[in-house]
Amino acid sequence: MPAAGPMSGKWTAYLCLFSTLSAVFTPALAVKEHDFKKCVQSGFCKRNRAFADHALGTSSWESPYNVLPESGTFKDGQFQATILKTINDKGETVRLPLTVSFLESGTARVTVDEEKRQKGEIELRHGSKARKERYNEAEQWVIVGGLGLDKEAKVASQDKTQITVQYGPSSKFEAVIRFSPFTVDFKRDGSSQIKLNDRGLLNVEHWRPKIEPPPPPEKKEGEEEKEETPEEKKEDPSKEDESTWWDESFGTNTDTKPRGPEAVALDISFVGYDHVYGIPSHAGPLALKQTRGGEGNYEDPYRLYNADVFEYILDSPMTLYGAIPFMQAHRKDSSVGVFWLNAAETWIDITKAKDSKNPLSLGIGSKTNTHTHWISESGLLDVFVLLGPTPHDLTEKYAELTGTTAMPQEFAIGYHQCRWNYNSEEDVKDVDAKMDKFKMPYDVIWLDIEYTDEKKYFTWDSHSFPDPISMGKQLESHGRKLVTIIDPHIKNVDNYPVVAEMKAKELAVKNKDGNIFEGWCWPGSSHWIDAFSPAAREWWASLFKYDSFKGTMENTWIWNDMNEPSVFNGPETTMPKDNLHYGNWEHRDVHNLNGMTFHNATHHAVKSRKAGELKRPFVLTRAFFAGSQRVGAMWTGDNQAAWDHLKASIPMVLSQGIAGFPFSGADVGGFFGNPGKELLTRWYQAGAFYPFFRGHAHIDARRREPYLAGGPYTTIIASALRLRYSLLPSWYTAFHQAYVDGTPIIRPMFYTHPSEEAGLDIDDQFFVGNTGLLVKPVTDENRVMVDFWIPDDEVYYDYFTYEIIPTSKGKRVNLDAPLEKIPVLMQGGHIFARRDRPRRSSALMKWDDYTLVVTIGKDGKSAQGDLYVDDGESYDFEKGQYIHRKFVLDGKTISSSDAEGRDVKSIKKGDWLKRAQGILVDKIVVVGAPSSWADKEVTVESEGKTWTAKVDYTAAANGRAAFAIIKVKASIAADWKVVVA
Ligand code: GLC
Repeated sequence: MPAAGPMSGKWTAYLCLFSTLSAVFTPALAVKEHDFKKCVQSGFCKRNRAFADHALGTSSWESPYNVLPESGTFKDGQFQATILKTINDKGETVRLPLTVSFLESGTARVTVDEEKRQKGEIELRHGSKARKERYNEAEQWVIVGGLGLDKEAKVASQDKTQITVQYGPSSKFEAVIRFSPFTVDFKRDGSSQIKLNDRGLLNVEHWRPKIEPPPPPEKKEGEEEKEETPEEKKEDPSKEDESTWWDESFGTNTDTKPRGPEAVALDISFVGYDHVYGIPSHAGPLALKQTRGGEGNYEDPYRLYNADVFEYILDSPMTLYGAIPFMQAHRKDSSVGVFWLNAAETWIDITKAKDSKNPLSLGIGSKTNTHTHWISESGLLDVFVLLGPTPHDLTEKYAELTGTTAMPQEFAIGYHQCRWNYNSEEDVKDVDAKMDKFKMPYDVIWLDIEYTDEKKYFTWDSHSFPDPISMGKQLESHGRKLVTIIDPHIKNVDNYPVVAEMKAKELAVKNKDGNIFEGWCWPGSSHWIDAFSPAAREWWASLFKYDSFKGTMENTWIWNDMNEPSVFNGPETTMPKDNLHYGNWEHRDVHNLNGMTFHNATHHAVKSRKAGELKRPFVLTRAFFAGSQRVGAMWTGDNQAAWDHLKASIPMVLSQGIAGFPFSGADVGGFFGNPGKELLTRWYQAGAFYPFFRGHAHIDARRREPYLAGGPYTTIIASALRLRYSLLPSWYTAFHQAYVDGTPIIRPMFYTHPSEEAGLDIDDQFFVGNTGLLVKPVTDENRVMVDFWIPDDEVYYDYFTYEIIPTSKGKRVNLDAPLEKIPVLMQGGHIFARRDRPRRSSALMKWDDYTLVVTIGKDGKSAQGDLYVDDGESYDFEKGQYIHRKFVLDGKTISSSDAEGRDVKSIKKGDWLKRAQGILVDKIVVVGAPSSWADKEVTVESEGKTWTAKVDYTAAANGRAAFAIIKVKASIAADWKVVVA
């Protein structure tokens, strides 16, 4: 982390803000790692780690959780029982209702609640109340399907000690629920995959009344303070550490914790798996590291507690802006996963251990198990177990539960030009014109917080933005859009109707006393909308109506930032956990959901801003949770203009993809600081392969619109932008697949090649959709070569030169990558679509013809691929108004048919689909075409007509593949067949 430079940046802004707004409040000078908790500073994490240490260090350890055998019933795919937790030596117990549900998808769900505290409220100060029960509404926000019970699930055996249930596809899955102690062993084809409480770390901190400690005995006069003897000081490891049960302080904040200790924790073991992935967002490698020390490992667990950790540290388990508690474990040919549905602060410890059946085998033939320990501060224990066996199976099953990526408008996957800030309408128009002048396509220009009248959202600074509609119209004239930022903190000031209304209607988050919560953010003193409240969401929607948010129009879209929420003077830069939300739930229970509820509210608001406006909303969010993928895109927050941040962005974006939220990207150029020209150029080249592609910069950073770079840089950046635009049809197709079944848009090696063990740690190269494009961005200074790892025996061609890469499976190959070159290979066997005429924006390319690129596979005669197209903006695709083609090369024939086997002729065509019939496949470029194609003609058959076209053939030379160009000119929407004579 560089010292002063960038760090001072944001804080300069903070400080200016605070010095103008408050003389009293002085923030620390910089947010550093120590401003955020380590496990040892987070009471429940510390307690549970200590619990684990004690349990694992005690050979006679027995988990105190036992299922009451007579309480168990199995009916319609569900096992219900009561777990008794023994809480003391006297054998006293608390009752924990257990439900194990077997779902039609083959996913199993284990839920543990707590009986005693299910009802009631705790009186807080001033008559306000907090809910007593464990938070049980995460499901309402997160789960959208897949909960149907598997009625075919059956009990295979049952006695007083355990019950075995067979379920899932062809009953291949099995759950062995043991009663004493309670454990579950999930098996596939008879072998254990995932075990719960196998190590006995299940811990449900039960409800207990607060007992005030007796006051310390009064000292008699002259009496000396008695020092504790070392023996007395020594803690009894079996005794629970009660010091963090109630009030708990961090820095200057004290969390009152009115419900006391209530964590839920569980060990989840992945049997025979040595790689785990997921649980974004963290700035570290894709394959998760071990977290309990040792060389190269982390000391702290991975943390999920959405926070404004700007200037984040790389290679760290520290929490970031968003949280998805979904983890995949992978070994050769097998993937399994768990989804931990809990919205409270969560820590996850990961350790790996060799497991050898024969202690004399010295590790030979032993397998590695990955042990994880999940610890959440409050809420239910609610865990979904997915048994794969492929990474794609996990993606699909997880998507069934939490939903898939919203189908974006096409503009949203173009290039976005942002900075904090474009200062005026002239500034915006100037950037817009310059992008055109330098032939740089882009779709969206963004306005950060300074466009507002003194950070009052839904207003404009009338000086700098007197006529936003005219600005919007100018952008619209070449198909471009405007994004304006709207944050969840509402300025606490007089004469601001938005805050007045929010207060009057009581739609804001409350503090523990039941009064409106006040804290500091960009506007200074602020209140926060409570998007958990239906009334607040309805009100929020009213603010986006065109006659309410004046100056916005149909091409205005929204950016939601600071929704962790970021509270500058709050504990760990967020809200106090004892704040209260709608329904009297404490903030602690819902923290990780908070950002998503706000993002959802904005998505729905934008969708309903005018009756009959049926465009797909675009809303970017910084904070997120499982399910956020259904409403928009995310970015990785405040990174730095540094090479290592560029490098870190790749695994971060890949991790988003495998955790179900693939519409992601990092700030191109780096938010803080000033990238050198080489770094900026390389970042554009990498960014052109992020699903979400946006350049952004801090207010103190020098201007760096891509045309400013000068020299060769401007031209090189322009070609990266154009490459993105030419490949938009393929990106859109990949987004469509993510929309259909959750498949990641860019895919790591373990995902595409689950049998290749050597690929499991590779996270600096990836495939784009189904195109076969293998990309390895340059992320090091002065580097002019990259080494690709080749995952299979396919043939690989250089994207730009058609050079055949001499390689074989598992080999590393070097590829020259001078500054002007993005290392992109084409894997043989694919057909993907491009649009080769560069234009200013995606909208202007809407009716352009296509080029299909065929990369002939290693058998010398086959390839296939698909293309999905719709109007790029409305929901008509849901009514069949789309084109989805499957292309196949088989020997000498290339054909196009409907990818879904629909009878396309019978589809009633709306305006777009009618006009789209006229869009042509202009040409097909066949890379690796056999020499027998030279000087040949082709016959094209389509829609009852036949015509011929010439094959324009270039023979192989200098290591380059031969290629053929065929001007096909058949409709993209129709079936056709091209036969080489
Ligand atoms: C936050 C965002 C950043 C934005 C700034 C001002 O730091 O992460 O992207 O520019 O706030 O709104």
